[in-house]
Amino acid sequence: MAYFRRFLRHRTRLLLGVLAIPLAQSLDVATTILVGQALDRVRQSSEVDWLSTTLWLLAAAAIGHAFFRFWQRWLIVVVSRRFEVELKQELFDHLVRLDFAFHDRSRSGDLVSRLTADVEALRMFLGPGLMYTLGAVVIVPISLGWLMTLNLWLGLAIGLPMIAVGLIMKQLSPRLHRESTAVQESLADISHRAQEDFGGVRVVKGYHREAAQTRRFERSSAQNRDNQVQLGRARGLTHAAINGSFDLTFAVILVVGGLAAIDRTLPIGDLFQFVDLTLKVFWPLIALGWIAGMYPRAVASAERVDTLLATRSALEAPAAGTELAAPAQGGLSLEGVGFTYPKGTTPALQGIEVRVPPGGSLGVVGPTGCGKSTLLLLLGRQMDPQEGTVRLDGTDLRSLPLAQARGALGYVPQDAFLFSVPYADNIRFGADGELSDAQVAELIDQAAMTEEVARFPEGDRTLIGERGVTLSGGQRQRTCIARALARDPRVLVLDDCLSAVDTETESRLLGTLREAGSGRTVVVAAHRLSTVASCDEILVLSEEGTIAQRGTHEELVACDGWYRDTWEQQQRRESQGAPNPGGAA
Ligand SMILES: Nc1ncnc2c1ncn2[C@@H]1O[C@H](COP(=O)(O)OP(=O)(O)O)[C@@H](O)[C@H]1O
Ligand SMILES: [Mg+2]
Repeated sequence: MAYFRRFLRHRTRLLLGVLAIPLAQSLDVATTILVGQALDRVRQSSEVDWLSTTLWLLAAAAIGHAFFRFWQRWLIVVVSRRFEVELKQELFDHLVRLDFAFHDRSRSGDLVSRLTADVEALRMFLGPGLMYTLGAVVIVPISLGWLMTLNLWLGLAIGLPMIAVGLIMKQLSPRLHRESTAVQESLADISHRAQEDFGGVRVVKGYHREAAQTRRFERSSAQNRDNQVQLGRARGLTHAAINGSFDLTFAVILVVGGLAAIDRTLPIGDLFQFVDLTLKVFWPLIALGWIAGMYPRAVASAERVDTLLATRSALEAPAAGTELAAPAQGGLSLEGVGFTYPKGTTPALQGIEVRVPPGGSLGVVGPTGCGKSTLLLLLGRQMDPQEGTVRLDGTDLRSLPLAQARGALGYVPQDAFLFSVPYADNIRFGADGELSDAQVAELIDQAAMTEEVARFPEGDRTLIGERGVTLSGGQRQRTCIARALARDPRVLVLDDCLSAVDTETESRLLGTLREAGSGRTVVVAAHRLSTVASCDEILVLSEEGTIAQRGTHEELVACDGWYRDTWEQQQRRESQGAPNPGGAA
């Protein structure tokens, strides 16, 4: 019940809100009693003095009731909203820090619904749920008790249908909640489908699949319609049950109370109190049943939220005090590194042994799936190898604070992801501090994007569409390079991020990178061998994730093997003017 403790953080406000509940409810009952008694006195006497006293009392009770009711809602609902925001924030903070492996196995849609639907279910249960429950707990016994003092048998007689309505609601509300969840899920599905189809509109059009996608959308809509119908049915049933019990209660009051009134054993004013208090007690009872039905869902949500909060990152936080003595130099080494993905059956990397001195450059090549991206991810401690050690300046990454292990690195992922924010903000994202406009312009220039950015409608303030759809693949890749350069990293890690850039721009860009980053360590994985040709050392990985060949470009083309074959193939294609296969890995 960790979230319950979070809820209780606001106990002062909660306590004040809870105190207001009996005050509001008693004053509500008091107005009924005042009017009922006034009715009888009007019949019995013709004086008017007491009438004005009653009116004053009535006004005071009504104002007090309104005040306390507002107060109770204000405090409790506001607390529940704060709780919601805090829990959401905490959950987000936790999730965004969890390791890469966790996000790899989680569907982002699931995480989003944990963050929204589950937190909302908890809020409803703890906030309004608490308020309505306490309200009912106060008003039902007070009212029924009071009515029984007026007429014991009539009091008992109306108690029964009231208890029935609570039980009916408790029975029906799980169904109501279930159907409304189904409606929400199918709505989410519709928007997910539409979003995906609009996002992938080029593929849809390219394959001329508009009609098929429309049919798929129709199926989602039909599902939603069916769910809405089910929900409507459940609601209709609930309303019918509530109205039925309502009418039954009034029938009981009319028959039993009416007979007693004819006998003159029950004054008319008391009969009025029966009617009015029944009306006032009914809704809290219905709410109580509704909350009871919400309970299973709140418990399930609480469990899911708890499980997430209890998930620990597989990357253990290192002990403090083992920080690098000086700013990182950028020397990297992998010693006997072996790595297998949690879901992988065979190792992605085995026996990797390599050393890159500060300022040196390493190329990583090999067939698709040989482990290039995996090797690069280990450098930034996105994951820990099961075997061997990865070191930065001789220190095991596992013994460095994450901020230091990653802080020295500018990482450009294979998938050039951009946020839907202004262009320049995507670059600023990479920097640890603030960047001036001139610095951003300089980075854009280093990434060979200046001319293209100038042609954007609003220059570097142009908003980038979702996942950067308004940019070409090559433009996105170069923007990601500028983002990595923004932190002026000691180590630049490029994961096949020039595949969509033409060879000419590529060599210009590599030249600039070399110039601008003198002393910077560079590790670059590539499909196109020309990208790595100038590296101090090149590793050729085999399909099994071992080192098949190593050496400089000149050494590697001089001997038989995958490198020379691939180099010759790519050179032939290049001279024939055919595009190089890019971005396949
Ligand atoms: N998240 C993952 N979970 C399980 N296996 C993975 C994952 N990512 C990559 N692999 C597997 O690990 C191997 C190496 O992948 P990767 O490093 O991406 O290769 P490359 O970048 O050289 O194409 C491949 O066999 C791939 O299928
Ligand atoms: Mg890759």
